[in-house]
Amino acid sequence: MKGIKHPRNDETINPSGNASIYDIIDGIDSSRRTFIKGSVGTTALAAAGGLTLSGLVGTVQAAPVPAGLGFPGIGFESVPASVSVTTAPAASAVADKITVPAGYTAELFVAWGDAIMPGGVPFASDASNTAAEQAKQFGAHNDGMAFFPFTGADGKPTSDRGILAINNEYTPEEILTPAGIAGANLAAVRKSQAAHGVSILEARRRNGKWAVVKNSPYGRRLTANTKTRISGPAAGHALMKANEYSINENGSFPTGKQTDGFTAYGTINNCANGVTPWGTYLTCEENFNGNFGANTAVPAPTSGEVGKMFNRYGLTKDGFNYKWHTQDPRFDLNGNPNEANLFGWVVEVDPYDPKNVPVKRTALGRIKHESAQYVVDKDGHLAVYMGDDERNEYIYKFVSAGKYNPASRAANRDLLDAGTLYVAKFASDLSGQWLALLPGTIGTDGLALRDNANFAGADDAEVLAKILIKTRMAADAVGATMMDRPEWTGARPRIGGFNKIEIYCTLTNNNRRGSSATPSSNKADGSTAAGSARPAVDAANPREDNIYGHIIRWQEDADTVKATSFTWNLFLQAGDTKTTKPAKPTNNYKGNIVADPFGSADFGAPDGLWFDHFGRLWVQTDQIGDASGDWKNIGANCMVCADPNTGMARRFLTGPNGCEVTGIAMSPDGKTMWVGVQHPGEDALPSNPELKSRWPANQWGVESDGVTSVPFGRPRSSVVVITKDDGGIIGS
Ligand code: FEO
Ligand code: CA
Ligand code: CA
Repeated sequence: MKGIKHPRNDETINPSGNASIYDIIDGIDSSRRTFIKGSVGTTALAAAGGLTLSGLVGTVQAAPVPAGLGFPGIGFESVPASVSVTTAPAASAVADKITVPAGYTAELFVAWGDAIMPGGVPFASDASNTAAEQAKQFGAHNDGMAFFPFTGADGKPTSDRGILAINNEYTPEEILTPAGIAGANLAAVRKSQAAHGVSILEARRRNGKWAVVKNSPYGRRLTANTKTRISGPAAGHALMKANEYSINENGSFPTGKQTDGFTAYGTINNCANGVTPWGTYLTCEENFNGNFGANTAVPAPTSGEVGKMFNRYGLTKDGFNYKWHTQDPRFDLNGNPNEANLFGWVVEVDPYDPKNVPVKRTALGRIKHESAQYVVDKDGHLAVYMGDDERNEYIYKFVSAGKYNPASRAANRDLLDAGTLYVAKFASDLSGQWLALLPGTIGTDGLALRDNANFAGADDAEVLAKILIKTRMAADAVGATMMDRPEWTGARPRIGGFNKIEIYCTLTNNNRRGSSATPSSNKADGSTAAGSARPAVDAANPREDNIYGHIIRWQEDADTVKATSFTWNLFLQAGDTKTTKPAKPTNNYKGNIVADPFGSADFGAPDGLWFDHFGRLWVQTDQIGDASGDWKNIGANCMVCADPNTGMARRFLTGPNGCEVTGIAMSPDGKTMWVGVQHPGEDALPSNPELKSRWPANQWGVESDGVTSVPFGRPRSSVVVITKDDGGIIGS
C-alpha cells in the first residue's frame, strides 16, 4: 500500500515542501503524524514478564511486530566479514580498505587536515601543518555528524547542497605532529587543541561529484579554545567559575580574574551527536577527563568536594597522557580545578550561522555524553535521550518544560534550558522507571537530594545546579541501573503505521559485568568509581563478561515523552556465531543476531546507532578492528543495517585496519550517505606512522571531488561518501 502513512522507500517521507526546519532535518511532517493506540510488542513484553534471571538470556529478545510495519526492507546482500589477511602491514590485520555491497560506490569525501574554510591550506603529509593551519582544516578523529540541507529554488530541502557538522573527538598524538610527542611544546598542544572539536563544512554535489566547498563562508571550526556560552540551571554557579586566561599562540596567561560562570572556552572529546527539530546541531562532550592532567597528585576521593568529583568523573594526574596541562595551565587540575566542570555537556550550535556562539546546555546534565536523540511527542513536548559511555553508567532523558514550536525557529532556541532530567531504572519484568533528578527526589538512602551533602545548597535552585554538575552522583543516589556502557541512542521513526515512541541504545560491552562473587553497586554518597565496579548480571544486562555488547530498546508509556514509566526489551545481543570461546553460564558469546544465511552478519561492540528517515536501523561498531583475539572471526569494524521489526541484519560496510566505524548522515532524498572512519591504524609509531594502516591513500588517489590528491605518509580519519550506482536510496 502506498500513501501518506505508508511511504515507500523510493520516495522521501516529506514531499510537502513544508518549510519547517524539523521536516527538513527529519523528513517527517509533524502535521501528518498520527498516534493510533496500538499494541505493538506488548503481548510479547507481557509474556516475558516474571521471567527468572536464568531464563532471560535466551528469551529477552526482539519483540515480534507485524511484518513490514514501517520498514521498507533491505535490498543488498551482506558483504563478507573482513577477517585477517597476511599481506597487510601489521601482523594481525584486516584488509586495509573500505568495502561496500555490490552496486554501491564509496569515495573519500574529507580527511583529517583537509581545508574546509577560507584561508585553509592543504594537508601536509608529514604532519607539519601548524596549529593555526589545523584550525582551518578538518579536525582529527571524526565521529558523529549530521547533514543540514540548504533550501533549493523550489523552496524544498536540497539533496545536493548543504552543511555537514562533524565531530572531531580526539587526537592521535603519535602522528599529529612530525615528532609525535604528546605535550612536547606549546605548538604541539595548540595543534592538538585545534584538531579537537567540531568541523562545519559545506558539501556540494556538482556533475555527480560530491566535494567540500573549501572556501565556503559556512566553513567553521570549533576547537578546544572556541568561546562558548553556558546556559541553563547550572550557569553562573560557583562551581562553573574557573580561572580566566588570555589564550593565544604564545600561551594561556592568567588574567587574575575568574570567569563569570556563563562563559567557557572550548568543546572537547566531541563523540556522537544529535540534532534538534529546529535545525541546530548537538555535539556531545564525552571523555573530557582525559584531556586534563596535573603535575602533582590530585585531591584524593575522600578529601572533599573536588576530590569526590574528580573520582566520580575519572579526572586523574595523567589523564589520557595528552599533557596539555604541561603547556596550558587551563587544563591543570590542581591549579584550575573548576575548569573540568565546564566540560561533559551537550553543546548546541547553529550550523547555518557561522557567527553563532555555541551554547553548553546544562539542563541536559554533565556526564560522558555519547549522543543526544530527540523526540517530539503528540503534545509538542520534547525529550532528548542520552547515554553516559563508561562501564556501569546510566541512560538519561531530558524532558523540556516548554513545548516545541514548529512555526518559529527562534521560539525554540532556549527550549533545552528548562525541563527535567531523568535517569533510567530497568526492572526484570521488562518495565522501567524514569527517576527525576530533582531536589525533592528521595534517594536510596532515604534522603531527598536536597538533603544529600553532595547537592546541599542555599535553595533548590542551587541544589539543582549541583545535581546537574554532578549528574552521575545524583543518578547514583536515586538508584539508577548500571548499564554495559550506553553509547548512541536512536528513535525509531513514527512512519508507515508505526506510532510508538521507541528508543534504541547500544550497550557496547562490559567485561566487568558478572565478574565478581560480591557484586558492587553505586553508592548514594557518590563515592563509587563506576568504571571499576563489578555489577551482577541483570535482566537488562544479562551476560557476564559481555565483550560483544547488546542493543536495548524501550517504549514510553502512553506515547508521551513525559512518561515516568516504560516497557523495554533487548533488540539483539551481538556475538560471534563461529566462536570456540568456552561458554559461561550466562554468555555463550554467540549472540542472537538474526541473519540469512545464519552467521552472515556477525558483529560486536555496537556503538553508532541511527535510524534513517525511511526506518532502517544502522549500527556501527567499535572494537579493536584488526581481527585479533576475540575478533578473529568478526574481523574489521563494520556497519550493519537492521530491520527493527525482526532484527534481521545485513552487513553493509567493513572498515580498514584498526579503525572504528562511527558517524553517519544522509541527504534528504536518501541517495547519499556519509559514514565516518575513525583512527585507522591506531597506535602507530612516530617513526613509522604507517605501521598499521596506509588508509585512505592506499584505496583512493583522489577524493570524491576528483581533484584533491590523497597522499601517503600517515593514516587519516575520514568521512566517506556512499552512493548507489543506480542512483537509488541507500539500503534499498
Ligand atoms: Fe566516543 Fe563512547 O565513544
Ligand atoms: Ca562512540
Ligand atoms: Ca565506543
